[in-house]
Amino acid sequence: MKVLVVGGGGREHAIIKSVKNNKDVDVIYALPGNGGIASDAICVDIGTKDIGGIVDFAKGNGIDYAIVAPDDPLVLGAVDALEAAGIPCFGPNKAAAIIEGSKAFSKELMKKYGIPTAAYETFSDEEKALSYLDTVSFPTVIKADGLALGKGVIIAGNKAEAVDAVRSMMSGGVFGESGKRVIIEEFLEGPEVSVLAFTDGRCVVPMVSSMDHKRAHDGDEGLNTGGMGTIAPNPYYTDEIKEICMSKIFLPTINAMKAEGRTFKGCLYFGLMITKNGPKVIEYNCRFGDPETQVVLPLLKTDLLTVMQAVTEERLSECKVEFSQGSACCVIMASKGYPEKYDKGFEITIPDEIKDNVYVAGAALKDGKLVTSGGRVLGVTKTEECLEDAIKGAYSLVEKIHFENAFYRHDIGARALLAKGE
Ligand code: AMP
Ligand code: GLY
Repeated sequence: MKVLVVGGGGREHAIIKSVKNNKDVDVIYALPGNGGIASDAICVDIGTKDIGGIVDFAKGNGIDYAIVAPDDPLVLGAVDALEAAGIPCFGPNKAAAIIEGSKAFSKELMKKYGIPTAAYETFSDEEKALSYLDTVSFPTVIKADGLALGKGVIIAGNKAEAVDAVRSMMSGGVFGESGKRVIIEEFLEGPEVSVLAFTDGRCVVPMVSSMDHKRAHDGDEGLNTGGMGTIAPNPYYTDEIKEICMSKIFLPTINAMKAEGRTFKGCLYFGLMITKNGPKVIEYNCRFGDPETQVVLPLLKTDLLTVMQAVTEERLSECKVEFSQGSACCVIMASKGYPEKYDKGFEITIPDEIKDNVYVAGAALKDGKLVTSGGRVLGVTKTEECLEDAIKGAYSLVEKIHFENAFYRHDIGARALLAKGE
């Protein structure tokens, strides 16, 4: 079988390493992949937004199955285009990917179907948004409607910050078209939980829960990033919360999408906040999370490609999806300066015996050597029976990897350990 994976980050590396385990898979192509992924797949330099190029490649190379991992191609309709060319795919079509592509859409969906989320208003008119700020309490949350590389959310502590945020998004153009419409929503408090779920539009199978660490520095200081590390399972996601999520959030969301004529097939990411009044949806993503995937897939016992194909063929209910009882920790090693300016091109050394634990995100091959080429360079994952050992194990592997200007958080999982009382 020839499998194509669209994307080129740590998440895609984790997906590729899992898919490789399927004995029917002969070759995996990554578009565009990266220098580290090149050890596990054939990387082809076609960008994730080049839908025409992706489809031409798939047709020209006899691809049997395609996995579209990042948000951009999903929102642009890569799955529709591949399916139109007769290639079975994992991932939602364009109509369903809007659940991430437009926050205005997802908020409206939740309101219409009674799915718990923060109270909000949507604005396309800057003056109306600004006068609404006279009526809210602070902190308040300002969100750009469209995709903004995970940066389109501003928590404004006071009115002046909120006014700045609205102006910079709506007329300042900081997020381009994505910020022309904004959502102003109630500030929620509580621990955050990420839950990725397989769904074929009828049946929903939540995966093991996880916890992201979004701020750049220890103690949750510094700027928001794409994610500096993850652990799984998330101790705040108790059996009781899990049941509430299934009946009040997961199933209602799948059914709502179906009722709207936007049946969602693929991996639906629920970003949840466990508030005093129960779990509420902070955001939906139409894809696997990064770096959540790097702790969730190593705990998946069932063959990933088999589950994905069951999703595509709408027979997920027949598929038994099992996770191991253990814990996982992923520590991201980044380039000093990330998420702002950083230097690239430093050689990375990874001992051979730990390559299986490493998911490469931002690295390129130069003269046969792996060199840094991005902000988040790689993730190192360790699974163990208990969380404490997984964390220790991940950090002991981090110490074996070297590149100039490397930095990472030292406290991935610390909050989770406190919550567990370990
Ligand atoms: P999002 O891109 O929607 O996931 O938001 C990024 C981060 O902003 C979330 O992970 C939360 O930490 C925070 N956030 C988003 N919405 C809210 C809210 N309504 N109340 C409090 N924090 C929020
Ligand atoms: N880790 C958050 C995301 O993938 O959007």
